[in-house]
This record gives sequence, structure tokens and C-alpha cells, in this order.
Amino acid sequence: MPPSAILVSIFTLFLALLAPAVRSMTLTDDDLRNIPSPGDDFDINNGKLLAPILIPRVAGTEGSLRAQQHFVDFFRDNLPEWAIEWQNTTSKTPVTGDKDVPFSNLIFRRDPPGANPGEVGRLTLVAHYDSKYEPEGFIGAIDSAAPCAMLMHVARSIEHALKAKWEADDGLDEPKGVQIIFLDGEEAFLHWTDTDSLYGARALAEEWDNQFHGAMSTYRTPLDSISLFLLLDLLGTSDPRVPSYFLTTHWAYKAMAQLEKRMRDLGILESKPANPFLPESDKEAGRFGRSFVDDDHRPFMERGVDILHIIPSPFPKVWHKMEDDGEHLDLPTTRDWAKITTAFVVEWMEIQDQMPKLPAAKPKRSVTVKTESQRTEL
Ligand SMILES: *[C@@H]1O[C@H](CO)[C@@H](O)[C@H](O)[C@H]1NC(C)=O
Ligand SMILES: [Zn+2]
Repeated sequence: MPPSAILVSIFTLFLALLAPAVRSMTLTDDDLRNIPSPGDDFDINNGKLLAPILIPRVAGTEGSLRAQQHFVDFFRDNLPEWAIEWQNTTSKTPVTGDKDVPFSNLIFRRDPPGANPGEVGRLTLVAHYDSKYEPEGFIGAIDSAAPCAMLMHVARSIEHALKAKWEADDGLDEPKGVQIIFLDGEEAFLHWTDTDSLYGARALAEEWDNQFHGAMSTYRTPLDSISLFLLLDLLGTSDPRVPSYFLTTHWAYKAMAQLEKRMRDLGILESKPANPFLPESDKEAGRFGRSFVDDDHRPFMERGVDILHIIPSPFPKVWHKMEDDGEHLDLPTTRDWAKITTAFVVEWMEIQDQMPKLPAAKPKRSVTVKTESQRTEL
């Protein structure tokens, strides 16, 4: 065998090893046109997804209970096959003295029917639903009622297609699930410190780190089952600039940026920003530093979970001000984030062929653009 042939066969072997982990991104232009918009459901006064949570939602208050009820009712009434899990804890805070403040994380989970929980890798979509303790009456529309509404839109947009896909093929081969986590207690009560912030995220990451699936499971704990922790925060004002924070998940950032670009080029996004929301696809490996924006992902990241953090830097001007309310949302931007996130999830779950056809998407001809992500899991 000439040396070049050896090289070729080694290369072929290498490709063969790599093949199962290379994700093929195959959303066609029509698939993208077919991604539903939340439309009027994001209306700030009577939109059924967003309006009910544009209220103060401080942990342990009446508003917090109403927000929880809104999520539970939505899933119970529209998406009954999503399992609901609560994680309730209490903690003291610097402003509430001896009182134990209750914190409730809500997890809505959709696994392939019949799958063993320890075998399912889950795309994990996350936003916090609590609002800041002060100023009194603070709403937190971008922080983060709007991201919560975006995730509700994602869930209802993919349910039909997930079900159809799992009916056609039981999905038990390499079971992929999806879960949405609404975290409580992200905000500090007084000043942001390690103990006064991330109440819900810290409790959940710790609990999941210590919960074990069966001995023969593919994934040891519910933390290991998280294939990607996609955190949305501070989204809903115009002209956001979201950097790529982590080299380890830059491949996922690029996948989302590519979807944004293609949807923009196709004219199916509403906003007209000066620059893309996700401008850092070409960021070089050497430019990733050690800094990040502290947020709900940290307790998970510290335990080795892969994070895609979708948060603008710089922060929007309304951040932690009374102006962070429904009136200050830019709804075209807010709806575009919902569509981009939905497209990302459709691609991840490989359910584009099962997505219901929107009337507008039907007649156009289909063009397939194939790209391959750089993900390798060796
Ligand atoms: C958790 O607390 C909420 C109230 O915030 C309550 O509605 C729910 O039933 C509790 N769930 C569990 C499992 O304790
Ligand atoms: Zn905040």
C-alpha cells in the first residue's frame, strides 16, 4: 500500500468515527418560511402568552403565584403531554430577615413516549420568571417575561411535529427530548452576591447533580442529560447585540446565527436592525476570554453543562429601570427572537418535515441549503 493510500484509509476511518456526531443542518428555505410567529399572542395588553406575566412577580408574592399558574394552565390546556415538575425550596434573603422565602422552579418536559429517562438527552430551554424586588412595581418585560413567552411559543410550535415524528419512528434509537425550565429567584433582593442571586438556579443545579439515574443509564444524572442549556435573558429591545460567549458552544451559536441570517435574507423577520442580533459567527478561537455575564447558567456551567447564553452585551438601556415594561418592548424584535429560537429547536429536534405547513409557506419552491456544524463528540 503506498503511503498516500494509508493516509486515505486513516482519513476515511476518522470520518467514519466522526459521522454519527456530525449534525447535518438541513432546514430548507420553505422550512424557514414555515416557522410560526407568535403574532398577537405577544400583544402586551391582551396577548394570551405575554400579557398575563407583565406584572410584578417577586418570589413569594401573589404575582409570582399568578405567573406560575399561567405556565401550568398553558401547558395543561394546550400541551397535556408535557410532564410538569416543580422544584420548591426556601431561602432567607437579605431583605426578608428570618422569613423563609419560597422559590419554585417549574420544569416542563417532553421525552419520546416510552423512553427511559436516563437515556434521553434533552435540549434545555431556560428563562427566569421572577422579577426584581425593587423598584416597587418593577415589571421586568425583557427581564424576563418576554423570554418566558418566547419559550411558551416554542413549545406550542413544535408539539405537533414532535408527536408526528415519534409516531412515525419511536424516537428510541437515540432518544432526544426537550425541556423548558422557568427559574425563580434569579434577581438579587438587595445587591448581587453569590448568595443573594440565582436562588432557583443554584437549588436546581445542586439537586440535579445529586439525583442519579439507574446504574446502566447513558446519562448519570439529570444534569448529564442536558445536551445544551440555552438561556434567554434581557431580550425584547431593538438592536440587541448578542456575543458568542463560549468557545465550547460556539458551534451552536453559529447555527443560530446562520438561521437568523437566512431568515433575514428571506425577508421573514420583522425587525430591521442595523446589525445582526448574533454578529459573532466568525469569532476566532483565540478571542474567547474567560469573562462571561453572570446569570442562571453559572451553577450549571460550574458542573460541566454546555451553555449557550443568549443575552445582549451591552445590556439594554431599560435594564433594571421602571421603563423595563411592556410599553418599552420592541415587538418586532421580540417576535423575531421567538421565531429564531423556534427554528433552532426545530433544527435540533430534526422535526422540520413534520412541522404543520403555514398557508404562506406552501406554494414556494424548495431550495435546500446544506451546511455542517463543527460539532464533534469524540
Ligand atoms: C410548589 O409550590 C407551588 C406554589 O408556589 C405549589 O403550587 C406547588 O403545588 C408546590 N409543588 C410541590 C410539588 O410541592
Ligand atoms: Zn434582572
